[in-house]
Amino acid sequence: MNNEPQIPSTKRLLRTLNGEALWPPPVWLMRQAGRFLPEFRAERAKADFLTRCMTPDIATELTLQPIRRFGMDGAILFSDILILPWAMGQSLEFVESKGPLLSPIRSEADFKRLDRQRIADVTAPVLETLGRLNKIFNGTDTVGVAKPGSTTLLGFTGAPFTVACYMVEGKGSRDFATVRKMAFSETALFDRLIALLTETTTEYLSAQITAGAEAVMLFDSWAGLLPPSEFRRYVIEPTRQIVASLKARHPRVRIVGFPRLGGIMVPEYAEKTGVDVVALDTGTDLKKILPLLPPSVGVQGNLDPIAVLAGGEAMKREALYVREAGKGRAHVFNLGHGVLPQTPVEHVQELIRTIREEP
Ligand code: CP3
Repeated sequence: MNNEPQIPSTKRLLRTLNGEALWPPPVWLMRQAGRFLPEFRAERAKADFLTRCMTPDIATELTLQPIRRFGMDGAILFSDILILPWAMGQSLEFVESKGPLLSPIRSEADFKRLDRQRIADVTAPVLETLGRLNKIFNGTDTVGVAKPGSTTLLGFTGAPFTVACYMVEGKGSRDFATVRKMAFSETALFDRLIALLTETTTEYLSAQITAGAEAVMLFDSWAGLLPPSEFRRYVIEPTRQIVASLKARHPRVRIVGFPRLGGIMVPEYAEKTGVDVVALDTGTDLKKILPLLPPSVGVQGNLDPIAVLAGGEAMKREALYVREAGKGRAHVFNLGHGVLPQTPVEHVQELIRTIREEP
């Protein structure tokens, strides 16, 4: 069966990813399947995070929850960027209030223990989830939660540098000093890690597309920690390679790249990587950056998640600024980072209404 997206499509998000400027813009939110939803918190009690990612019944349900409630234009697979290193055998645990903990990769010996041959077997349930979701969103499964042909299914991975940050540091960090020092002082080893991640990310995303993802997103959450030379070497170049290989294999697939905190490097990223859409973080002025991006590249973003937490007039003002700034361009309305767990559900409801219905 060929699950790949048909173009032209009736899906507003897919059309925008293909370069059309629609009004109002399509909308989905990073971390839309998350702890701010009471129905998500209820499921959470039943299994740990990795089990939830790896059980198709649960991961399918968690992906659908925000679509049922708010009808976003995009559904992002319920999974995590750290599934890939875990699938290569690195230990991974999600500890309440501490975030992810991994056995850190610091030496040649640690690196050599990573086993890319395991990835296909370990990630098979994720691909099964994508296949089920594709059928639900395209009307070939009867448990549809949205009008068939309206919701675009997004797969994702972390980009190599951001995944390497967690692999080397072994946990979240404010500055990821260990990994950035490794890039400078053990460059050969770090280059091999990035090369491994570039290849395995390509394979994993390609498998996601074959399984039913209609577009994919590369999260490079820590890209902006790097100086320009390393930003080119560890963010732009690996992303360019991944995009080129995916497009060679899946010519119609659309790719969103998120070089978070990339600042003045973002236009170069948009120009050189070949991504169809660049996702912008909260601190970027959408109006000011648009003229600096190639006209063929679309944008996604970038409302401050704190504005959604606050709600009311502040949220409305900021949301309408972002919507207006993207007018006339291929723009996917989204946040500049993920929805915060404390966000009231009604604020998200009101945000979606504002984007779709305010004149
Ligand atoms: O709704 C969605 O956006 C889809 C699912 C998704 C998750 N993580 C689920 C998740 C996506 C796209 C991610 C991406 C991700 N994961 C990133 C890139 C985006 C960003 O936030 O910068 C990063 C850096 C990670 C790594 C990660 N996963 C961290 C640092 C944490 C701990 C912080 C936290 O919010 O708990 C996670 C855990 C995680 N990933 C949760 C969810 C729903 C919470 C786990 C739980 O419910 O117990």
